[in-house]
Formats: sequence, structure tokens, C-alpha cells
Amino acid sequence: MGQCVYQRVAVIGAGTMGNGIAQTFASFGAEVLLVDVNEDGLRKGVAAIEGSLARFVKKGTLPEADAKAVRARVRPSTRLEDVRDVALAVEAVSERIEVKRKVFAQLDAQCPAATILATNTSSISITEIAAATKRADRVIGMHFMNPVPLMKLVEIIRGQETSDATMQAIHACTSSLDKTPVEASDYPGFVSNRVLMPMINEAVFCLMEGVATRDGIDTVMKLGMNHPMGPLALADLIGLDVCLDILEVLHEGLGDDKYRPCPLLRRYVAAGRLGKKSGKGFYDYDAAPAKA
Ligand code: CAA
Repeated sequence: MGQCVYQRVAVIGAGTMGNGIAQTFASFGAEVLLVDVNEDGLRKGVAAIEGSLARFVKKGTLPEADAKAVRARVRPSTRLEDVRDVALAVEAVSERIEVKRKVFAQLDAQCPAATILATNTSSISITEIAAATKRADRVIGMHFMNPVPLMKLVEIIRGQETSDATMQAIHACTSSLDKTPVEASDYPGFVSNRVLMPMINEAVFCLMEGVATRDGIDTVMKLGMNHPMGPLALADLIGLDVCLDILEVLHEGLGDDKYRPCPLLRRYVAAGRLGKKSGKGFYDYDAAPAKA
């Protein structure tokens, strides 16, 4: 394993993305403060890291002692005030602009002037988030993919005021985590979700309209397009609430009805069917882990 260019980082939010990001930094030698104001969420995030590390150990790609060391480098906390002397803070809280702006204002007040504040937002404007701080030149989008420990891409998004120095620092940081940075401009959904979400949404429309069954739709995309998993299984992995939030941002931000969220997706979210994390989405994860 290589060495992260930063020795101390903070990750805000211990959900699906946050715990994966924390694990990744810790796997590359960084001391990570993992903050979540929700105690239960923090516990689940730490358990997810332990579960993921155990999978690597079982597979034989990570010695048990190394897994223990990675886990020991992650320090959980429920207090955002604990974030102090970090060189980089990565925010991965819920996809709501008000929540993110509040977190950024707090980070701005607490972190040293040189600290880079990155957001893992999957679609919200970096420029709008940066405007909640007095350091817009040191605010940047650092968009990891799920599952973070496995996926090689980090989409790097430059806000209106992001400096060249910040871009270069986050490029170097991404490479030091053995991931590939790709630059995108600050438009709704950037590249990844501008392309991915319409596909997922269209798959849900196909299901709603009875074009094919759930398994039929996913099999077409897996065997016909060589996707590692079908769009409905992928939506479950991402979280149906997250997919809906991203589609709303695309719809509103780009003003085109082609991004209107499918009513069936809305209905599932309203029913609490959020995908893998809630035990049920398009697939059922309670009985046996879903294999699309
Ligand atoms: N930690 C550690 N290991 C993990 C893991 C995790 N979190 N998740 C899966 N694995 C390992 C498994 O243990 C397994 O190992 P072996 O092959 O040695 O048994 C391996 O990964 C493959 O897992 P599975 O057999 O369970 O399933 P799979 O072969 O389908 O692979 C996958 C799983 C890597 C997730 C693959 O299906 C895949 O690449 N899917 C597409 C993921 C994708 O598109 N992600 C992007 C989502 S979009 C996003 O994140 C951005 C956004 O803003 C919404």
C-alpha cells in the first residue's frame, strides 16, 4: 500500500460513502477522525469498516495485523468540534444543500486557514457550498464512488473560486490513494451522475411500465452491456433516496424534463424502501444478500 500525502484528515458523515472514504484514507496510512453527530450512525459506520476489512483479510489481500492497524487509525467522534489540526476535511453528509452549508460554515470556523475542505457531493453545486465559507479557493469537490475501497475513480470538481493549488493538491492526494482523478466542471451531477442517473431512472420507468421484470431489466444490462451489476441492483447499492435526491438536483438545475424522477422511485422512497442499507429496495436483502 502507498502512503497518503496527508497525515491527518477528517471525514464528516459515517454513512455508506463516509465510512468507505475513512477506510480508504486509513488504509493509506492517514490518521482519520470520523465524525457523525448520530451515535448509531457512527457505530454502524465503524462496523461497516470492520466488515469491509474482514472481507479483504478473508480474501487474503490484507494481513490481519494490517487490518487492525487500519481500524486503529480511524478515531470515531460525535463532535464536529473535535476537528482541528487536519490538513484535509472531506464532507459526506446527506445530499441536502442546507445541511452541507452548515457543516462547511462550522469546518471553516474550526479548521486552520490552510486546511482544504472537500465535499463528496454527488450532484450539488461546489460553488454554492463554498459560499458558506470564507475560503472558497480551498473548497473542492472530491467525489468518490461506491464501494469506495474498491472503485478507482475520484471525480474532482472545481468550484467557481477553487484555486489551481487546491486542484493540484487534491489530484496528488487522489493519486496517493491509488485512485484515478478525473476533472469535471461545476454543473449539476457533474459527469458521473449526469450520465448514470438517467440510465437508472429509465430502468425504473421500464419496471413501472412493465417493459420487463426486475431481473429481466438487470440481466439485459449485465449480459447485453457487460455492466458488473444491473441498474436496479446498482440503485439499491447507491440508495434509492440518494438516487431521488440526485435526480431532483438534475431536474431543477438543468431544467429539462428528461431528468424527472420516475413516480415508482418516489413511491419506494416514500415507503422507506431505500435499497441495501434499509434491507429492501428493488431487491430484498433481509432473507439472503441480493445477487442480481
Ligand atoms: N469492501 C471490501 N470488499 C468488497 C466490498 C467492500 N465494501 N464490496 C465488495 N467487495 C468484494 C467482495 O468481497 C468480492 O471479493 P471476491 O471477488 O474476492 O469474493 C468482490 O468485491 C466482488 O464482490 P461480489 O462478489 O459481492 O460482487 P461483484 O462481483 O458484483 O462486485 C462490485 C461488487 C465491486 C460492487 C461490482 O458489482 C461493481 O463494480 N458494481 C458497480 C459499482 C458501481 O457502479 N459503483 C458506482 C456507483 S455510483 C457512485 O457511487 C456515485 C454516486 O454519486 C451515486
